Amino acid sequence: MSAREPPRPVLGRPTHALLAQPRTQRRSHGVHHARPRPLPGHELVVVANRLPVDSRTLPDGATEWVTSPGGLVTAMESVMRTVDSGAWVGWAGAPGEAPDPFEADGMSLYPVRLEQEDVERYYEGYSNATLWPLYHDVIVDPVFHRTWWDSYLSANQRFAEAAAPVAARGGTIWVHDYQLRLVPRLIREKRPDVRIGFFNHIPFPSVELFSQPPKRNSILRGSLGADLLGFQRESDTLNFVAAVRKPLGYHVEGTTISVPGLGAAPRREVEARTFPISIDSAAVSALTEDPEIRERAARLRHDLGDPDKIVLGVDRLDYTKGIRHRLKAWGELLDDGSIDPHDTVMIQVATPSRERVEAYRRLRDEVELTVGRINGEHAPLGRPAVSYQHHSFDRREMTAMYMAADVVLVTAPRDGMNLVAKEYVASRPDLHGVLVLSEFAGAADEPRAAVLVNPHDIDELKSAILRALAMPEEEQEEAMRSLRHQVMENDVQSWAHDFLEHLEHAGREAQAAVRVVRSRGDEPSAPEEIDEARAPSPTFRAC
Ligand code: ADP
Ligand code: F6P
Repeated sequence: MSAREPPRPVLGRPTHALLAQPRTQRRSHGVHHARPRPLPGHELVVVANRLPVDSRTLPDGATEWVTSPGGLVTAMESVMRTVDSGAWVGWAGAPGEAPDPFEADGMSLYPVRLEQEDVERYYEGYSNATLWPLYHDVIVDPVFHRTWWDSYLSANQRFAEAAAPVAARGGTIWVHDYQLRLVPRLIREKRPDVRIGFFNHIPFPSVELFSQPPKRNSILRGSLGADLLGFQRESDTLNFVAAVRKPLGYHVEGTTISVPGLGAAPRREVEARTFPISIDSAAVSALTEDPEIRERAARLRHDLGDPDKIVLGVDRLDYTKGIRHRLKAWGELLDDGSIDPHDTVMIQVATPSRERVEAYRRLRDEVELTVGRINGEHAPLGRPAVSYQHHSFDRREMTAMYMAADVVLVTAPRDGMNLVAKEYVASRPDLHGVLVLSEFAGAADEPRAAVLVNPHDIDELKSAILRALAMPEEEQEEAMRSLRHQVMENDVQSWAHDFLEHLEHAGREAQAAVRVVRSRGDEPSAPEEIDEARAPSPTFRAC
């Protein structure tokens, strides 16, 4: 028998002042153009590589706005929905001409222009072919090019130039992710009055790996322009602190780093801290009450030939997600007859991602070849063994998939958090379903009631899948109740509250230090250059 979770009272959770004014009206990608606001500007400014919406040019030349891919946007879009008059600075997703600033869903969006060459060198190059593989423990080899660095630096300068003027005096600028590691420092040089936070959505590697990339010290100095640096897991925070201690030689106490001052302060204290990100759990859970979505979930099973079990994977088509591992295990289970394709169907959503980067092209070829082989050998006539979906879905369709799935597979060999795991849990108030979760995803630190797995061990992965498929209802309910307790209590709003509260405290202390220095008439120390090309460091080896 399947039990439903009892209704949970809405908890009186503390809310940071910046998040305290929920907006009553919300439009779906209602976009209209607006002039940039005159000062005093925005109290909270988010800076990320991408805006929450991507522009697409339709065949008739018209522009369409769609939700941008990735967990950063899923999380921060929900946070910004609760902010009155927030701003978001980012790229609109197409090279060349950037749109004028505009309003969407009650937020002011400030597009940053990236030329085709920036897209190739800053975004596809240094961000996604150098830093991304390096930060994910070199699952593929990182590539270093000096021209990519130049572009990374100049693109970061452009983001900083776009963000600095839109923040209110004494306001808060929250910079996100590895594409913009230099931005905190570049903003601080222009706006010493604002609080600056930085959150790293992906893992931070061990000091040995982080020592590899040319310009590593610039990346550290750039990040340390923030008052507070947030990481997903404790190991990420500790890795960052170790990376700072060694090459820069800064004094570190616990996870507080003493940084040479910029502007009026001789030294600044910068805190590194762990803040595991989450989702808008209540909003995801509420969608499951929608009759149309329930009906869609039922129809989905019917369209797949009414199998007993549906197994689901939802990922950007990225080598960090373990799609190859999963398909290998699935193929072997079909080959050895442990799974009957008449009873059990797999859906693999593989969202297009970074399609011009070589490693992603190769991955797509391999995945599609494997899916083709599995379907060719095992699919019953008229229906798939693996239903492969290489496109985006809207949130409602995604929820219907989670509601239909008896098992969700998250098999990432390395992942900062993995919000898909949390979305699945939030979509199951009926307490049905099993989450198979890689121990290398940040999500595995928290809801430990999942079936944890080492995706590198294909035999272990196969056993985990079979165990999940055979799990009795009562065991599913017990595990899902425990997972939901974690996910529903620790949502993205409390994550943002926690981060902003720590940032406010850190920023206040930094401003107090500036005032003391000014009152004593001390000379500020000369700041170190952010780029080692301008200030050669003994540890830097040019490539
Ligand atoms: P990452 O940030 O690396 O992409 P996450 O799992 O943390 O990984 O977040 C992925 C987000 O993208 C989730 O909110 C998920 O629902 C969403 N998503 C993934 N694939 C699709 C898709 N095909 N269509 C719409 N949303 C998607
Ligand atoms: O943290 C995950 C993340 O890298 C975000 O920074 C990024 O926006 C998202 O995945 C999607 O990647 P991309 O912007 O390269 O399409």
